[in-house]
Amino acid sequence: MSVPGVLQAPTSGWTTSADVIVVGSGVAGLTTALRVRAQGKSVLLVTKATVDEGSTRWAQGGIAAALADDDSPEDHLRDTLVAGGGLCNEEAVRILVTEGPDAVRELMAWGARFDTDPTGSISLTREGGHHRNRIAHAGGDATGAEVSRALVAAVSADPGIEVVENALVLDLLKDIDGAAIGVTLHVIGPGRRDGVGAALAPAVVLATGGFGQVFGQTTNPYVATGDGVALALRAGAAVADLEFVQFHPTVMWLGPLAQGQQPLVSEAVRGEGAVLVDDAGERFMLGEHEMADLAPRDVVAKAIRRRMRETGAAHMWLDGRGLGADMWVHRFPTILASCRLRGIDPVTDLIPVAPAQHYASGGVLTDLDGRSTIPGLYACGEVACSGVHGANRLASNSLLEGLVFGRRIASAIEADQLSRRVVTEADIDARDTQRSLVVRNAIRRQLQQKMDVDAGVLRSAESLDEATQWIDAALSGDVNRGTPCTEDWETTNLMTVARVLVEHAKLREETRGSHWREDYPNAEERWRVRLVTTMAKDGDLHTERRSPEWVPGSENT
Ligand code: SIN
Repeated sequence: MSVPGVLQAPTSGWTTSADVIVVGSGVAGLTTALRVRAQGKSVLLVTKATVDEGSTRWAQGGIAAALADDDSPEDHLRDTLVAGGGLCNEEAVRILVTEGPDAVRELMAWGARFDTDPTGSISLTREGGHHRNRIAHAGGDATGAEVSRALVAAVSADPGIEVVENALVLDLLKDIDGAAIGVTLHVIGPGRRDGVGAALAPAVVLATGGFGQVFGQTTNPYVATGDGVALALRAGAAVADLEFVQFHPTVMWLGPLAQGQQPLVSEAVRGEGAVLVDDAGERFMLGEHEMADLAPRDVVAKAIRRRMRETGAAHMWLDGRGLGADMWVHRFPTILASCRLRGIDPVTDLIPVAPAQHYASGGVLTDLDGRSTIPGLYACGEVACSGVHGANRLASNSLLEGLVFGRRIASAIEADQLSRRVVTEADIDARDTQRSLVVRNAIRRQLQQKMDVDAGVLRSAESLDEATQWIDAALSGDVNRGTPCTEDWETTNLMTVARVLVEHAKLREETRGSHWREDYPNAEERWRVRLVTTMAKDGDLHTERRSPEWVPGSENT
């Protein structure tokens, strides 16, 4: 088996430079850019589509932070650790929950407006796995859109941040010592830069989001093709926890043939009182968990799948009729519109729901300040594996992670004194000149179907072997021998991510968090480790087991 090594030789049609390059324009990338700028450094922010196109704007529920009088970071920590199934890095979580409230206040200072209660305080709600009301929301169920609006406005107002849109990141550029010094990009003009070029900087921050498009049904937008994780693997950086793919329990079911991005029905709907029922109207979550419909996400997704299997139903139902018309109109306007668009009125009708891919809890392994295992390369947000999510992310901790760790990365870049260095084309290690074969985009749909069936919510040694064989055959046979297009590069990234995800899922012979093995139904103490993988230049994968507390550069094993 060989996974593609370099997508594009580092010969460039154009070159540009900055103090810091940020790749991605969701909450993580935009926060990092603003914080880096506050130190007076120039930022080149490159993004694959338009600046507001990533996953952030689709986030409905909100941002979790201990803002209420009856809440505390310690309570938030406890809920996050429980959801994480024993694989969180507790120190990383402690950072998340203690720095979280301040990060939310800074977001408000940048212009984000949260919903408030009649006293003027931020209105807080509850989602699965939370024992307190601690989810701040905006526009009812349009939190991500408001966060994105505020941050994009702040970035646009800063002349020290240059934004390049329609720029697909290809590979990391390194110097001869192996440190990151930039990226190759494919930009679709118009503008000074068109086609493949190089962006140089002594610090590169990956904030490229997730890889939901590895699967056929996902809540992620079309841009979520795992570009950052695949780039990091090709560059030799360590990635971890890729097997922990979170399936959101309540995604609107649009029929067996639906594919691509599917409409989310926020957990907050259950937080406000909606319940799950089967075809017979039975509330099947009551006997499953002490938190019933508000159990952690993996518990609910599994219970839905199990009931679907037992009853032969294609989906379950979400009953939100008890919320009343006023609640639907004012608290959940986005979901209401999305339902009505499809002929469902949640005020009077049940909503058909089934689990679909939603979030990657793993990614590029980082230390507590976002440093990857490659000097000069940082990762933030969904692309990263900072240890805060463990085996299963707690609801509404993702926007928070982007805010908190974006701030920390900016401080780390300052502490690492990288931006004092000037890098030029002459610093590029020219040994990476051999371009790999790129996979043809035509196989993307087959990959997604394979991953849905063999590596989705339910996994077994047999199904994972099938997935491996299919991926290996496709990687060796289905290559593009001509000039690749954006979709070919993306599909190559999806294949690279899928290959490692399946490898991890096969190795992990237990059921934990969002990783569910039918042939190993229990969590095993010996598996309270994380799987960390690096890829050699020839595409060979090397996977080792590390304690959840281990971070790059630490003494813990
Ligand atoms: C939701 O609103 O249910 C999604 C929130 C999240 O993924 O954290």
